Amino acid sequence: MTTDTDDSQPRHFLDVDDLSAEELFAVLDRAATYKRAVDTGEDHAELPGKTLGMLFQKASTRTRVSFETGMTQLGGHAIFLGQDDIQLGRGEPLKDTSRALSRYVDVVMARVFKHENVEVLAEYADVPVVNGLTDDAHPCQTLADLQTIREQFGGFEGVSATWIGDGNNVAQSFVLGCAMAGVDLTVATPEEHAVDEATIERAAELGTAPETTTDPVEAVAGADVVYTDVWVSMGQEDEREIRLQQFDGFQVNEELLSHAADPVVMHCLPAHRGEEITDAVLESDRSIVFDQAENRLHAQKALLVSLLEGF
Ligand code: CP
Ligand code: NVA
Repeated sequence: MTTDTDDSQPRHFLDVDDLSAEELFAVLDRAATYKRAVDTGEDHAELPGKTLGMLFQKASTRTRVSFETGMTQLGGHAIFLGQDDIQLGRGEPLKDTSRALSRYVDVVMARVFKHENVEVLAEYADVPVVNGLTDDAHPCQTLADLQTIREQFGGFEGVSATWIGDGNNVAQSFVLGCAMAGVDLTVATPEEHAVDEATIERAAELGTAPETTTDPVEAVAGADVVYTDVWVSMGQEDEREIRLQQFDGFQVNEELLSHAADPVVMHCLPAHRGEEITDAVLESDRSIVFDQAENRLHAQKALLVSLLEGF
């Protein structure tokens, strides 16, 4: 598939809606193909000689390892750039970092605090920039989540998902992804931690805006999927005490799930057992969290090849 955008400009992936719905489905199809290729040992080294620069201002297990492993499997190479290992940590401006990296690598993935910082990277980069998590968005997670939902249910039509907890980065990209894929979504958050109004409006433009509520029990009724994330995200450690109070009643536990039919449970990980989710639920047969984690690898490989070689 070709795109109708300016071919001289790199395609960035700062949030899910940087893709058209058609491109999103093309990435998910390619991700499924790569997953089968890994299982069968089929060669799919489609990015030989290409290098990914991975800039991290926050910790990571899944994002780092899945991108690095993915580049190896595609025949390319990835370089880990921790903020304190490069001149950025000593005050070199992001715009200079971006222009210098563009002269070496073929694609940049960045995990930063402020969302504006991936926008700055993209503005100055001559190569695609991929958002590996900001305070506002986690679109690579959403790709893997949609792949996982499609595997579970064979498609998106008629699937009802419920988000429980914090309406921040993972939730916000999931809202956009569900709107684009046609997943029926309900979002239950404390009032103080609702999904941004702009994201709800954007979801309405892309498809259907989610139902929003502050009542988790009402929200899980009829859910095929119940999804949650930590209550204290990276960078919010100072707010821990107040947040634990604000999220009281939003734990995904057996009692809450007894108000749903028979849902699968999703979590982007890392999980804080005993806070947003119980150990019993996370370890139960309902939990598909490690399928999500695995699909980060397949979905991101598909994204990288699509951005560099076309959709
Ligand atoms: N879900 C996710 O992005 O995990 P990491 O923080 O380990 O990368
Ligand atoms: N909301 C979490 C997601 C981690 C993948 C955080 O930002 O820390």
